[in-house]
Amino acid sequence: MKYTYNDRDFDIKRYPSTTNRSLQPWNAADELILEYINDLSDEHESSVLINDRFGFLATNLFKLQPLSVVNHKSHQKAIERNYVSNSLVLKSRTIKTPFGSLPDIDLGVIKIPKSLEAFEFYLQLLHKSLSEHGVIVCGFMTKYFTPQLLEISSKYFEEVEQSKAKKKARLLILKNKKEIEQQVVTIDIQFGDKVYKQYPGVFSSDHIDYATQFLLEYLSVKESENNILDLASGNGVIADNILNQQPNAEVHLVDDSFLAVESSKMNVHEGAHFHWNDSLEDVDDGSLDLVVSNPPYIAVNEMNSLQAEVRDYDPPSALTDNGDGLSFYRRFAEQFENLLISDGYLLLEFGGNAQKGAVESIFQNVGLNTEFFKDLQNDWRVIEVRR
Ligand SMILES: C[S@@+](CC[C@H](N)C(=O)[O-])C[C@H]1O[C@@H](n2cnc3c(N)ncnc32)[C@H](O)[C@@H]1O
Repeated sequence: MKYTYNDRDFDIKRYPSTTNRSLQPWNAADELILEYINDLSDEHESSVLINDRFGFLATNLFKLQPLSVVNHKSHQKAIERNYVSNSLVLKSRTIKTPFGSLPDIDLGVIKIPKSLEAFEFYLQLLHKSLSEHGVIVCGFMTKYFTPQLLEISSKYFEEVEQSKAKKKARLLILKNKKEIEQQVVTIDIQFGDKVYKQYPGVFSSDHIDYATQFLLEYLSVKESENNILDLASGNGVIADNILNQQPNAEVHLVDDSFLAVESSKMNVHEGAHFHWNDSLEDVDDGSLDLVVSNPPYIAVNEMNSLQAEVRDYDPPSALTDNGDGLSFYRRFAEQFENLLISDGYLLLEFGGNAQKGAVESIFQNVGLNTEFFKDLQNDWRVIEVRR
């Protein structure tokens, strides 16, 4: 989609691509951020962008040579692709993960994530490197406003100002940073006799997801099942359970979220291979005995009806595939032959009774056999798929 900024035309695309033409790769909050930065009288020497999902800001602001902090591999790929397709040169140091320190900066930009934990984590990161007279600009759509955004911001900054709303978007402008002791906070989750650790903004915010707990009750790994993939591995609770059952198994964990992968490294040890990726390119070799997954399966148009504690704390990319909630099952059906040995199988969680028929058809249409299992609420919840 075309966008003109400071007399230059850009063509910005979503990654992963979508056939839904109403899904723009930016919103009014991005436009408001650009307007604000354009109106700033001071020159900004060093800037950082965080949670710029499709690289809209990085591309339009290329003259500032901003550093993009990315948590999701898919966001990194979006930024890289949009730079290349707009004939811009991306230096390797212009993208970095949210670990380690940032260079000194005088302008920080956060596209406010829906997870409040993640917002605070990003704010801490910028606060550490911001110069005395630096400014942080945070953009959001007003429908996602919660007073907690102001409370969190006020912990770190003396001046927290809200802009006027424009096209249902608003900015928080943060200046005059407070002197506070900071440390990266990990969250402890007690489950069984183990405490799982995770970074903020990793699914599921303060407990092990109840549906995951059911999947684990059903998961029984045989000694002969040595080569196993946990796709969408989050904090690694499923992979850890597999290794407790079969300590010699080779287990691959794949997750799009860097903070999820780093969390799983704190919870899963021997025999594990960690992959920060949004695709299966690292493991697509037909040698797997078992693929287990609790993927994002909520349809994007159902996200607004979620309970507030899920919507405000869990990262949307852990919940929805930004489509009809079935895209991971389609990918598994397409890739089944490339992933699994002849008697290998998939064990997948899905979204309950309403999704059962659709999930069943996806696998049966490619000639695979399915078996379903109910959870404790008597809802269909887990599917096993074999040749
Ligand atoms: C519902 S959570 C499950 C996490 C963990 N397995 C559990 O059960 O607690 C889904 C996970 O999928 C990850 N994810 C989303 N899209 C992905 C993709 N394209 N490739 C890999 N992981 C993805 C999210 O980052 C999130 O950690």
